[in-house]
Amino acid sequence: MHKVRIVQTLNLVNVDNRLDAIEKAGYNSFLLSTSDVFLDMLTDSGTNAMSDKQISKMMVADDAYAGSQSFKTFEKSVFDIFGKKLILPVHQGRAAENILSKTFVREGSFVPMNYHFTTTKAHITINGGEIAELFTPEAMVIKSSNPFKGNIDLERLDNYIKDKGKENIAFIRMEASTNLIGGQPFSLENLHGVRKIADKYGVIIILDASLIGENAYFILKREKAYENKSINEILIEMCDLCDIVYFSGRKVSSARGGAICTNSLALFDRMKHLVPLYEGFLTYGGTSIREIEAMAQGLYETIEENVVGQSPCFINYMASELDKLGIPVILPGGALGCHVDAMQFLPHIPQEQYPAGALVTAYYIASGNRGMERGTISNDRGRDGRDTPADMELMRLALPRRVFTLSQVEYAIDRLNWLYQNRNLIGGLTFIEEPPVLRFFTGRLAPVNDWPVKLVEAYRKDFGESL
Ligand code: F0G
Repeated sequence: MHKVRIVQTLNLVNVDNRLDAIEKAGYNSFLLSTSDVFLDMLTDSGTNAMSDKQISKMMVADDAYAGSQSFKTFEKSVFDIFGKKLILPVHQGRAAENILSKTFVREGSFVPMNYHFTTTKAHITINGGEIAELFTPEAMVIKSSNPFKGNIDLERLDNYIKDKGKENIAFIRMEASTNLIGGQPFSLENLHGVRKIADKYGVIIILDASLIGENAYFILKREKAYENKSINEILIEMCDLCDIVYFSGRKVSSARGGAICTNSLALFDRMKHLVPLYEGFLTYGGTSIREIEAMAQGLYETIEENVVGQSPCFINYMASELDKLGIPVILPGGALGCHVDAMQFLPHIPQEQYPAGALVTAYYIASGNRGMERGTISNDRGRDGRDTPADMELMRLALPRRVFTLSQVEYAIDRLNWLYQNRNLIGGLTFIEEPPVLRFFTGRLAPVNDWPVKLVEAYRKDFGESL
């Protein structure tokens, strides 16, 4: 358990200022300034609350360009929690993806996976590879009781490798608490199945462990065979089944940084030289030594049920309450955030007008809260220049670990309920400035008509001068 000892003041600006702010931000929540944001539900990346122990460890870090003692502490922690002894530190998760893709992906390579993540896909495709998302049919069911919607379809995986040829498979990628389908976990039974197939064909498994703590928590709670195991035992078993484990330290360890880890010296040696080239020396990897200490401590904290279960408990509460109100959300609740289904929320907005992006805009106007678009805007265009329609159009409302109170979650629910009653006022968006890669970060959009003004008018009618 925990109590809150450090607090930060938040701003809730009035609805006219919110309309101004989102207009200036090109209707892209990434481009909002935090001075205009009330509850920042953009992400959990680098925004989980740190513990007093993490902060105190940062103060005794051994700052050195090379050979830092703090790196030894980090190595020990990675070994104790993930069971891997060879570690390459990097400045964040996507830096690990750069090194992994540069090492293993070639023109004509294929990478089967349970589902893509934006930066992962970008790194694989930029190196000439092609991804295949071999999820099970349940993964796309918004309201479901399936506990493991992040499972990979083992039959599809086997057939895919047979079809493409094992020599063309760069690696199999499994993502813990699969981010873009609502933070949904895979089971250990499924991962054992993946291992069997990998061994059959002699291909390696790379595990994206950025959200592994929550996935292990869901295994503990939802997979019968593991109900009497500890989270530490589950984490070790997950990592033992994979040849390489990488993570964003911004997420899993509630700090900043990241790492690639393995027990194979041959694999380690293939990647090692890229760390000084792209990141920094092998004992700090482009992040600060203080963050190396914070990651080491943060990893130890991921084996505590109260730490990795906090965000899933709040998410489950929020998703269940929204469901009771008839608001379409991903069920069961997963990791990272509560995911609202914009396709059902806004059935009148076609995918070409980005319903998830429109919902994020409208929700910001209605609440001052910032969510993230996880739909077609988050997909880059295909080689033919056309939009790649997303499988799901989601507004993600992140609940970083130990950051919000339940009354703030109630506020978030209440404003979303108001918006749901006024959903017919919401219209679509269109791009006016569009970068060629990872367009969702910095692209600018505009509403297709003056619907945001109409939404503000409706808000004023119901809320008057109240914020
Ligand atoms: N893998 C997963 C599953 C992630 O969720 C992220 C980041 C990364 C890799 C990349 O890590 O940001 O440290 O470079 N997810 C953040 C999010 C950005 O908001 O979901 P990074």
